[in-house]
Amino acid sequence: MGTEKETRIPSYENKMDNTTYTLRECTLDDLEGVIEVNEKELPEDYPYFFYKSILDNFPESFLIAVNNENKIIGYIMWRVERIPSMNSLKIINKGHLVSIAVLEEYRRKGIATNLLKKSMPKIKQKNIIEYVLEVRISNHGAIDLYKEMGYKIDSIKKKYYRDGENAYYMIKKI
Ligand SMILES: CC(C)(COP(=O)(O)OP(=O)(O)OC[C@H]1O[C@@H](n2cnc3c(N)ncnc32)[C@H](O)[C@@H]1OP(=O)(O)O)[C@@H](O)C(=O)NCCC(=O)NCCS
Repeated sequence: MGTEKETRIPSYENKMDNTTYTLRECTLDDLEGVIEVNEKELPEDYPYFFYKSILDNFPESFLIAVNNENKIIGYIMWRVERIPSMNSLKIINKGHLVSIAVLEEYRRKGIATNLLKKSMPKIKQKNIIEYVLEVRISNHGAIDLYKEMGYKIDSIKKKYYRDGENAYYMIKKI
C-alpha cells in the first residue's frame, strides 16, 4: 500500500537548499503528528474526532508533507459542503479548505503550494463547483499564497474567529 501511495504522490526536491520532502495521504497513525503541527502553527484547534471524521470521509485530499526522517512538517485537509443553490432547488457541492499549515522552519520552500496543487484535483473529484476557504484578514502570507493559486476574495465574514478577527472568504471557481 505504502509503495503504491509513494508512486501516486511522488516526492519533491526543493532546488534551493536540497530540502527533500514527500507528500502522501494521511493515515490514522499520522493524525497525532498532524495535530502537533496544527497546535504549533495555528490558533484554531480541533478535537481528535474532527480530524478523524475528515480522514474517514475525505482521505484522498487529506495530505501530509514528511521530511527525510519521516517527521510530519505540513498538512492540508478538505471537506465537501453541500449547500442549497441560491437560484434553484438544487444542492451544490463546494470544496472547503479546512486547514493547511507548514512548520515555520520549512516555510517558503513551496510546500504549501504543492499541498494545494496535489489535493485540489482530489477534492474536485467530489463534483464540486468551486473551492472555498476562510483566512484571517491579517494573514498576509496565506492570502498571497491563495491569490498565487488563483483564489479571489469574495467577501468578509465578520468576527469569524473566536478572538473576533474577521475572515476573508476566498473562492476559486472550477
Ligand atoms: C500559509 C502557509 C501554509 C504557507 O506555507 P509555505 O509552505 O511557506 O508556502 P509556499 O512556500 O508554498 O508559498 C508560496 C507563495 O505564497 C506566498 N507566501 C507564502 N508565505 C508568505 C509569507 N509569509 N509572506 C508573504 N508571502 C507568502 C508567496 O508568494 C510564496 O511564494 P515565494 O516564496 O516564491 O514568494 C504557512 O505560512 C503556515 O503554515 N502558516 C501558519 C498556518 C496558516 O496560517 N495557515 C493558513 C490558514 S488560512
